[in-house]
Amino acid sequence: MRTLAAAALTDPVALDDDLLVHGDNADVLGRLPAGAFDLVYLDPPFNTGREQTRKTVRVRADPDGTRNGFAGRRYATEEVVRRAFADTFDDYLAFLGPRLERCRDLLADHGTLYLHLDPRESHYAKVLLDEIFGRECFLNEIVWAYDFGARTTKRWPAKHDTILVYVRDPARYWFDSEEVDREPYMAPSLQTPERAARGKLPTDVWWHTIVGTTSRERTGYPTQKPEGVLRRIVTASSRPGGWCLDPFCGSGTLGAVAAGLGRRFVLVDCAEDAVELAGRRLTGPGTTKAAS
Ligand SMILES: C[S@@+](CC[C@H](N)C(=O)[O-])C[C@H]1O[C@@H](n2cnc3c(N)ncnc32)[C@H](O)[C@@H]1O
Repeated sequence: MRTLAAAALTDPVALDDDLLVHGDNADVLGRLPAGAFDLVYLDPPFNTGREQTRKTVRVRADPDGTRNGFAGRRYATEEVVRRAFADTFDDYLAFLGPRLERCRDLLADHGTLYLHLDPRESHYAKVLLDEIFGRECFLNEIVWAYDFGARTTKRWPAKHDTILVYVRDPARYWFDSEEVDREPYMAPSLQTPERAARGKLPTDVWWHTIVGTTSRERTGYPTQKPEGVLRRIVTASSRPGGWCLDPFCGSGTLGAVAAGLGRRFVLVDCAEDAVELAGRRLTGPGTTKAAS
């Protein structure tokens, strides 16, 4: 694995070694080779925290308009009000949109993108992904359910994340259900002994604990995701030896899992402490090497 700053990348980057890049992913994604990745996994922060200018837009039917509507109708938009205010929602999609568009181009024809969010933003992001990929490329909405931490009594305690899954080409995407880990049946006595022993293929609802304070995989990075969740994603949606990309890598969970499963990886993060931590995780004595 090579670790380097975004400014030191060649353009285009030659994918001849696993890479850990320090820098804004906006400066990195454009240099990676288009069509090279089996899998892109994004676990972005939810909030850019910047003050935004809000636009109010009026939409009208116009055969020369730039927006597509239902049944092939075209629409034009015009801006009618602009107000400055702290609006993380507007900011968020403006931040995410161009990155998702580039990630789509980085996918191979058989490639798949996973966008990991929580229920506050996922419905807006799904509409955005429908626009970028096309609705026919939507594959799944995965619910990752965990059961940890305080429970409010004012509403249903929110205990799940949402992972949106889109494929580059619905006729050609890679999905290996045979290799995915299996789960115990809820009522094993209703199954044959063979089926009960083998377990069932997971559905789109995944129960998996968060990374616990005493867990062996814990790195101390606050938003670290469990390897078990990433392992399912990498196993199902990348081929052995295929390239996986994580533009918001944090502590490097995607890289650790990809290496353990014999895949190649490119990881990017703009935070120096994240890159240092991911670097130690991926080269340290406890590193899981790819099975040869
Ligand atoms: C939710 S964390 C990712 C956690 C990671 N999945 C893990 O298991 O450790 C999001 C990461 O995105 C990084 N980040 C935010 N904006 C970025 C940008 N523009 N370019 C690259 N990294 C960015 C943050 O520094 C943070 O480490």
